[in-house]
Amino acid sequence: MAKDTLTITDNRTGKTYEVPISEGTIRALDLRQITVDKDDFGLMTYDPAFMNTASCRSSITYIDGDKGILRYRGYPVDQLAENASYLEVAYLLINGELPTEAELDKFTDDVTHHTFVHENVRTFIDGFRYDAHPMGMLCASVSALSTFYPEAKHVMDRDIRRAQMVRLIAKMPTLAAWSYRHAMGMPFVYPSNELSYSANFLQMVKRIAEPKFEVHPEIVKALDVLFILHADHEQNCSTNVMRSVGSSRADPYVAVAGAAAALYGPLHGGANEAVLRMLREIGSLANVPAFIKEVKSGVGGRLMGFGHRVYKNYDPRAQVIKRLADKVFDLIGKKSPLLAVALELEKIALSDDYFVSRKLYPNVDFYSGLIYEALAIPVDMFPVMFAIPRTSGWLAQWEEMLLDKDQKIARPRQIYTGYDERKFVQMKDRTAAVATPELKSNARETD
Ligand code: ACO
Repeated sequence: MAKDTLTITDNRTGKTYEVPISEGTIRALDLRQITVDKDDFGLMTYDPAFMNTASCRSSITYIDGDKGILRYRGYPVDQLAENASYLEVAYLLINGELPTEAELDKFTDDVTHHTFVHENVRTFIDGFRYDAHPMGMLCASVSALSTFYPEAKHVMDRDIRRAQMVRLIAKMPTLAAWSYRHAMGMPFVYPSNELSYSANFLQMVKRIAEPKFEVHPEIVKALDVLFILHADHEQNCSTNVMRSVGSSRADPYVAVAGAAAALYGPLHGGANEAVLRMLREIGSLANVPAFIKEVKSGVGGRLMGFGHRVYKNYDPRAQVIKRLADKVFDLIGKKSPLLAVALELEKIALSDDYFVSRKLYPNVDFYSGLIYEALAIPVDMFPVMFAIPRTSGWLAQWEEMLLDKDQKIARPRQIYTGYDERKFVQMKDRTAAVATPELKSNARETD
């Protein structure tokens, strides 16, 4: 009869071991019993970049890359984008269930009444150089919030923890908008309690001297949808950082700063910016065939916004975003000249055997940059636009980690490849060290 176990024969010793299989995995620690002699530490797995290691059990986000499925707490992301607001989705991620009307009202009220930041934060942001990158300012200022809420370090106290989660969701748009305003040399705009989460963010970014800020509700909805689509994506690079920093019981402000720093990297939160730069470089429809030829020959780099490590059928977020892009361009009344280039690239790529055989489809970033561009949001702000909604996902994952009895401080093992013990060399006896050759990285992962 079939058993849920794995039998391993160690050919070094001839011994056989049986380890349990549960939820499609074996426990790495079950391998530790496999030793060659009593001094042997025991077998480990080598898995740089966690390519085949589940670091946690999670009930927040489900992805099936082959089928193009993305669900938050069981709900398909396109249904959430169609029917819910971003705050409703943030509530769902954090609490596991969609809120009732009363629960959503309370949550919205809590978030709305925590959007202001201490006035010293304003001075702090003011202190950055005139040309500081908004993402650098966001990382630093969210980390600085830790100093305003020293009680936040009591992460195992539910009430305290929940208060910081609300604060973070509420204050990230303020910090993000102020980082942008500082970079633009414009005065800061304070939050407005009358506006929704996304409308408030837009007014803090865009408002100049209008006594009443007005924006088309469909534009607000479009931003809300973008926020929903970026809210969580299971164990991606920045979420892994959030869990890892949080595993030392550091407070959530510094943990979010760490996660945002990971998101800042061009291999993670920067792909939509790369798409826009690529579209600008191609410039016109006439240049599309030559560009595709270059991509296929391998000399022209990649078709940015295409392909995904997990989604090998289609990226469910991309389909929602494409519809959204059409809507936003219609509302604004002018189409970006780059849209035609994007559409042509997509048309060719979806019918070309090079892309089809490699299962390369448009991903979430292919159209999101064009929408941000249409909303006159500069490319430097794109990772910031990602960090705002991802905060709710980071926090949901952080709390799940804290409450998970299986979790401890994150502390991977290594395979030591350095010297054996050496005797200390006095300065006068040393020769110049040979420079370490630069290692070539082939990493391209984004999420
Ligand atoms: N354009 C052209 N060729 C591509 C592309 C692309 N965008 N993506 C993959 N390929 C090719 C590779 O050259 C390779 O070809 P080969 O088998 O002939 O060598 C094959 O497809 C497989 O590529 P891998 O790099 O092994 O695929 P992987 O799953 O590791 O990469 C990734 C996924 C990093 C997203 C990749 O598709 C890529 O670089 N895309 C462009 C960047 C991008 O849009 N990133 C955003 C991802 S979504 C998000 O972050 C929210």
